[in-house]
Amino acid sequence: MSLFAHFSNSVEFSVNFFKTIDHSISISLQEAENISELMHSLQGAFSETLYVYSPVVSFLLDKQEKISLLSIGLGLGYIEIMVVSQLLARKKSILDNEDFCIQSFESNKNLICFFKDFFLGKAVPVLFEDTYKDIVSKMAVYYNLAAIDIMNYMKKLIFNNKIILNSKFTNETKLVRPVSGVFFDAFSIKSTPDLWQINVIKNVLQEKNLLNYCCFATYASRSILKKELKECNFKIIPKVGFSGKRECIFAIKEI
Ligand SMILES: C[S@@+](CC[C@H](N)C(=O)[O-])C[C@H]1O[C@@H](n2cnc3c(N)ncnc32)[C@H](O)[C@@H]1O
Repeated sequence: MSLFAHFSNSVEFSVNFFKTIDHSISISLQEAENISELMHSLQGAFSETLYVYSPVVSFLLDKQEKISLLSIGLGLGYIEIMVVSQLLARKKSILDNEDFCIQSFESNKNLICFFKDFFLGKAVPVLFEDTYKDIVSKMAVYYNLAAIDIMNYMKKLIFNNKIILNSKFTNETKLVRPVSGVFFDAFSIKSTPDLWQINVIKNVLQEKNLLNYCCFATYASRSILKKELKECNFKIIPKVGFSGKRECIFAIKEI
């Protein structure tokens, strides 16, 4: 893995760009003196997204369940782009379905703004533009799609508020509709302790936020999360973590 560029537009927003081992791009944010952790596994941002998060969409498709999703930690948007690409490849009609929605949350305003502007065809800093293009082109190859189709659908979904880009997720956040899939892609407890507070986890998992059939995925394996999932009637499916990690969480609730 190698650092290849640095971007800064203010004291508050300073970013290091890295090539991970599968040649996809990840970043770390630098806040004041503190450099936060890399957003993805150094073994591969793209491969990790496919391994940890894409099964949520596959399961929902296989079960013919509604696809209404919650993504905590937009970051570079690998998950959002993967969802749209996978649905375009497997069942495009779902993207035009009234039920379909991705509610994404991100605490960093610049990341929301660049992601949105890029897909709406507005100018964004070149390092971000190249990164989003790289993610789209890798998804296009993997799902055997044309990159332009992914771009057009992302634009349409953002424009029509089907990909809803929200600020920080907290213990008071209210979802606009219940979900059948949760991507919990927070930084570690060390970097973002607030997201790992029990009240925040309870807020994510509260009954009114979840449809009867619901999948939950995260790269992490913290016991506090497993305990809460079990209390909310999720069954934890044993899953080895990405690239040699002992474990990651994939859980299903079926009522
Ligand atoms: C591991 S990265 C997510 C990577 C991302 N899923 C992707 O596909 O590139 C974690 C992200 O969570 C964001 N974050 C931190 N606290 C948050 C909060 N309370 N609510 C929403 N996002 C938060 C960070 O700014 C960071 O972008």
